Amino acid sequence: MKILGINYLSESSVALIVNGKVKYAISQERLNRIKNWYGNPLKAVEFVLKETNNKIKDINIFSTHGLSALDKNLPAFQNFLEKINKIKSSKLKKNIKKKQIINLKKRFLHEKKVKLRTLRVLKNLKKKYKNLEIFDHHDSHAASAYFYSGWESCHVLTIDGWGDHVSSKFYKANKGNLKNLSTSSSINSLGYFYGSITKLLGFKPHRHEGKILGLAAYGNYKKPYKYISKMISYDKKNKTFKGNYERGLYIANFENQNISFLKKKFKPEDIAAATQKRIEEVIVDFIKDNIKRKTNLALAGGVFSNVKINQKISELKSVKQIFVYPNMGDGGLAVGAAILSHNKYNKFIPRNTDTMYLGPKYSNSQILKEINKKRLKYFEAKKPEKFLAKKLNEGFVVACFQGRMEFGPRSLGNRSILVRTGDKSVNDWLNKKLKRTEFMPFAPITLDVCAHKMYKQLSNKKLATKFMTTTVNCTKDNIKISPATVHIDKTARPQIITKKDNLKIYKILMEYYKISKNPNLINTSFNVHEEPIVCNPEDAMRAFIESKLDYLYIGDYIIYK
Ligand SMILES: [Fe+2]
Repeated sequence: MKILGINYLSESSVALIVNGKVKYAISQERLNRIKNWYGNPLKAVEFVLKETNNKIKDINIFSTHGLSALDKNLPAFQNFLEKINKIKSSKLKKNIKKKQIINLKKRFLHEKKVKLRTLRVLKNLKKKYKNLEIFDHHDSHAASAYFYSGWESCHVLTIDGWGDHVSSKFYKANKGNLKNLSTSSSINSLGYFYGSITKLLGFKPHRHEGKILGLAAYGNYKKPYKYISKMISYDKKNKTFKGNYERGLYIANFENQNISFLKKKFKPEDIAAATQKRIEEVIVDFIKDNIKRKTNLALAGGVFSNVKINQKISELKSVKQIFVYPNMGDGGLAVGAAILSHNKYNKFIPRNTDTMYLGPKYSNSQILKEINKKRLKYFEAKKPEKFLAKKLNEGFVVACFQGRMEFGPRSLGNRSILVRTGDKSVNDWLNKKLKRTEFMPFAPITLDVCAHKMYKQLSNKKLATKFMTTTVNCTKDNIKISPATVHIDKTARPQIITKKDNLKIYKILMEYYKISKNPNLINTSFNVHEEPIVCNPEDAMRAFIESKLDYLYIGDYIIYK
């Protein structure tokens, strides 16, 4: 059974699932080169069909999300009116009441607009693909995490900014069934909470939340906490998250008048620290109250791109192991919707996520053609791992373009830049080269056989460290030999790599380890500035030239300056 999943929200994406296995997946941003591009990913659909030798008629089902758009009487809309009435009768100051009512009304109008837009998108999809199945946004997030966790039974938690008028859902999953236990509406969105602080500190919400997380480690939460902690909480009675829109959470867009005073009163890093502390606390409160018996926990939704939250969750007593779907944001919805369709007609089988190398690959002849076109200097290496390990040890920067492109936000070796980890200053000069501003140090890629010497408490993060979805506490040895990849709070977010995961990169790392006695290398995504990660040889060579990197290991060739 062939199912094509489609996501038209941020990082619009397409995934082909054959008999339950993800065979191909890509976000359209990688093709049109516009970061976070959203809309109907028709170009990506065509691309996937062509790459997999399929025609539209070969696809049994097309699957997508956006179910609430078809619902005539939305309880979410009723919710808004109730909240407005509650504010009207509250004891708040008149001017605060007025602001909050305007805020809620704006958000309401926005939700209505999104509903109409979604209806249009779905109509267009239906016109093109007759056999279209539509699922709920958060059910699709949950499905991506649960059906590819490999677990028959677990809990599932989804948290994002907004999806089908909801910001979070909690489930008990068993034998292919997802039973929804609680739902938090979009008015109570943890994603918007974090996004509004992102905007307050001068960054782009929906995109730069990771910078706030990096900044948080430098700050002291104590002073702004008094204010920020009031914005969101866990509502024990209703088992949901609660956004305190009366006292500061602004949900209309990310521009928040109510918290602009924070910026005048406190340092940005302290605001970031309080924000990070609060979101961790609230999610931890939720899990502690809702999971009493030790269980596995599958996670998806944009908020779980926050690696620090994931570490906190994984260290809770009631959590056996976490699995974060590696494309945790809306990009992963293409996979989630498709597996929901599959599961409707087929017997449930727990499936592991053994790879995220789900995108296109390019042949040596395609690569060579591009090398000649760009007139680059290159040679064919007999033992590339030996040559590259030596160069890495000498401090050169090596970009890798190998095999199939990763699906999701993290580069896992196939579209990666590698550098040695011994010198902290690399975080300045390499970011400058790549035209990036980051507060978090580069992430390491670590040999599996040495992982326990480098990190503490790994046992409950096995799946998460395979795909760089959590931070981990570093050992003293690691801090000493790899200062460039250890954050100020002594954590790192490693990709722990096995031979089976990626043989070519493993070999480079092993050779490097033999020379340097260091099992870590910096692994950062191969892209420049705000461009999406490179997809094809042309992108790779352009990025290589633009950022003046030293070596590009592409196919069987090594390009040099
Ligand atoms: Fe989402």
